[in-house]
Amino acid sequence: MDKIGYGRQYIDVDDIKSVIDALKSDSITQGEYVPAFEKALSLYTGAKYVVCVSSGTAALHILYAALGLEKNQEIITTPNTFAATSNACLYLGGRPKFADINIDDFLIDENNIEKLINENIKIITPVHYAGLTCNMQEIKKIADKYNLFVVEDACHSIGSFYKGSKTGSLEYSHGAVFSFHPVKHITTAEGGAILLQDEAIYKKCFALRSHGIVREDFINTPTSPVYHEMQMLGFNYRMTDLQAALGISQLKKLDGFIKRRQEVAEIYREAFKDINIIMQKKYDDRINSQHLFPVLFESKAIRDKVYYYLKEKNIFTQIHYMPVTAHPYYEKLGYSYKDTPKAYEFYERELSIPMYPALSDEQLDYVIDNIKKAVMS
Ligand SMILES: Cc1ncc(COP(=O)(O)O)c(C=O)c1O
Repeated sequence: MDKIGYGRQYIDVDDIKSVIDALKSDSITQGEYVPAFEKALSLYTGAKYVVCVSSGTAALHILYAALGLEKNQEIITTPNTFAATSNACLYLGGRPKFADINIDDFLIDENNIEKLINENIKIITPVHYAGLTCNMQEIKKIADKYNLFVVEDACHSIGSFYKGSKTGSLEYSHGAVFSFHPVKHITTAEGGAILLQDEAIYKKCFALRSHGIVREDFINTPTSPVYHEMQMLGFNYRMTDLQAALGISQLKKLDGFIKRRQEVAEIYREAFKDINIIMQKKYDDRINSQHLFPVLFESKAIRDKVYYYLKEKNIFTQIHYMPVTAHPYYEKLGYSYKDTPKAYEFYERELSIPMYPALSDEQLDYVIDNIKKAVMS
């Protein structure tokens, strides 16, 4: 069997044609494709404003900045995430705080948030890990009580739903971010997007994406020939038109991708119901768009055994995630894995098994068969 990874992009002839068309267009960055992709994402999610950027990390960085996160201010997020969620806070001189997770749904436990709140906290950033949305109603309640912003790190969860509202519609938050890294639901090779409802925050993100320089008529009604002026210290976080062209073409296929991911998830759930592994909890009022399929084994020893067994069979799984509190860099900053013991226990027992739309039935059978054999070996 050919190599099977835990995730993989799906690129077809339409994607290739779309990028070639963009290559032949007048401008290959900041031309017509980026605004067209932003409009398509706005239509898909229901967000009023969308700013496409060069990565999910860039999206988090400038969204935190646009919300006014400053030196020594704090965010609250989950330790079970890619480090970018909290790194973006460090970039601004802020200090992330980590609320431990639930061991059944693998998401931030909203009951651990309130005790971390003090006068420095500015933002709560739930991460919809693996494609399952967090308890947004409770998180919004806490944020409203203390007048905090909510940023959804939705890098795993485009196309998911919470109580009937689509991720990105921002019913429970001030903004959301997507990543279009190749293992995500749709890809632009590298890329990300910020979704917003508020015009003032949108204008800041728009400016911060490109050095803080904007056309005068973006801010004021021009009184003289239009010029570009630097309003704030920004970055070069622009998405190119080539990336946006790929994004536009990928987005057309997104619902089909999600459908296959959900099918794969159901096949796994059925296949593993009689063996001793824990799968992510299902909720009646949430629809998981299945970026990952994380499973928890009984112990670290069994998890490690399965990992190596599968590797021998050309099946490459991965661990998502080492808790951010446990990374050596964070330890140097004074954090410890002991701060978030459930996330650490999760990390020791977890594996993300293959989950992507191009996974064939034959490959899926092969993966399931080998996982069962590995557990029993
Ligand atoms: C939860 C989460 N947040 C943020 C990011 C950062 O996105 P990017 O890789 O596009 O910078 C990722 C990407 O892996 C992620 O999984």
